[in-house]
Amino acid sequence: MNMNDKNSLVDIDRKHIWHPFTQMKEWEGSTPIIIESGQGSYLIDVEGNRYIDGVSSLWVTVHGHRKKELDDAIRDQLNKIAHSTMLGLSNVPSIELAKKLIHISPESLTRVFYSDSGSTAVEIALKMAFQFRQLRGQKSKTKFISLKEAYHGDTIGAVSVGGMDIFHQIFKPLLFDSMMVMSPFCYRCEKSLEYPSCKLECLNDLEEVMNKHHHEVAALIMEPLMQGAAGMIAHPQGYLKGARELCDKYDIHLILDEVATGFGRTGKMFACEHENVSPDLMTVAKGISGGYLPLAATLASEEIYEAFKGEHEEMKTFFHGHTYTGNPLASAVAIKNIELFEEEKLLDKLQDKIALIANRLEEIKGLPHVGDVRQKGFMVGIELVRDKRQRTEYSTADRAGHKVILEARRQGVIIRPLGNVVVLMPPLSISMDELKQLLDLVHKSIVTVTNKL
Ligand SMILES: Cc1ncc(COP(=O)(O)O)c(C=O)c1O
Repeated sequence: MNMNDKNSLVDIDRKHIWHPFTQMKEWEGSTPIIIESGQGSYLIDVEGNRYIDGVSSLWVTVHGHRKKELDDAIRDQLNKIAHSTMLGLSNVPSIELAKKLIHISPESLTRVFYSDSGSTAVEIALKMAFQFRQLRGQKSKTKFISLKEAYHGDTIGAVSVGGMDIFHQIFKPLLFDSMMVMSPFCYRCEKSLEYPSCKLECLNDLEEVMNKHHHEVAALIMEPLMQGAAGMIAHPQGYLKGARELCDKYDIHLILDEVATGFGRTGKMFACEHENVSPDLMTVAKGISGGYLPLAATLASEEIYEAFKGEHEEMKTFFHGHTYTGNPLASAVAIKNIELFEEEKLLDKLQDKIALIANRLEEIKGLPHVGDVRQKGFMVGIELVRDKRQRTEYSTADRAGHKVILEARRQGVIIRPLGNVVVLMPPLSISMDELKQLLDLVHKSIVTVTNKL
């Protein structure tokens, strides 16, 4: 594409687009990278520059860009139909996909309710958990427990159970109350304890709330193992299992939000498998379609599903649905995505790559302004600090994370920061060489930026 064409795209973008999570004043004064195509682990912009996609285009790309089998799955489905509704009808790919989803999911889950984003999957889980209690006559169980720093999406219900004040504070008057418990964040432990000598004191905090409020709580919602958007907060081993046990003890449903962690990101298909935990409800999105099309699902246990069954006039129906629920095109590509995990033994192949990341992170951890590195499989957070010994954070004005990602771009890598945390989450298909290159360039970018800060 010639420069005139690029300039014209930039002009239109500045004039008409409102970008997500973006201060548009700053955006309008900058020259954006405009992506035109992709290939494998690379994004290619309108000037032909190639960048390693270090965050899987916001945590979604699984088998790389323009994966032939996924492209073909969409083309084949296009020859049949792009969309038909799930209201009063069903369609072939959504049925086949449901079977596959149940097959790969924890055994407690038997029912699939489709939607189109992580946020909608979460809204659905919350509403199901709420309505279940109403249907069962447990009328006082209307509330939710969630973790501080939790992120479950941007719709009002998801924000109500979210704990990221920086995003959520302004909307407080619109939200329903939920109970926040401490996040099991070892590097910045609220109780200044050390793992494992703490014996998971954070679970006591959870139990205290459950013990006091279980009669009014419908469910606990949490991201298993890794609180992604909070800055990759990696939970200590045993927290998830302990939370499951407490839910059972206090008759509280466990909703696991696997939107970010699902589909192999932590090295297993779902993060909850690491601790052999089965939830009552589970939300999936992002990687479900291999990063191709907007698709999400809320998976429910048979017990929850059964409670909604009744005669028409009993009004037990789950009155919820989205226009593109069960979209055939998205379902078709999701089916192929799951098949590829098996055909290419993707999770087996991942283990060497995970070890390589761990190895390189050790070097990065030694840098003077890296306070902590957190990794669960292919989910990585590198926390930059002003003072390593005191764990002092860089100020918002320092924009340490932002500067590192701009430097990384100059080096040919696209990544995103979460405050002072540099996030890496490459496509699972990335080659060992590309992975080495990604980690080297990120290492270099951190050194370059923090030397000057
Ligand atoms: C754990 C988790 N839940 C929900 C969401 C919301 O997903 P979406 O952006 O598709 O609405 C996200 C997005 O990052 C997430 O990380």
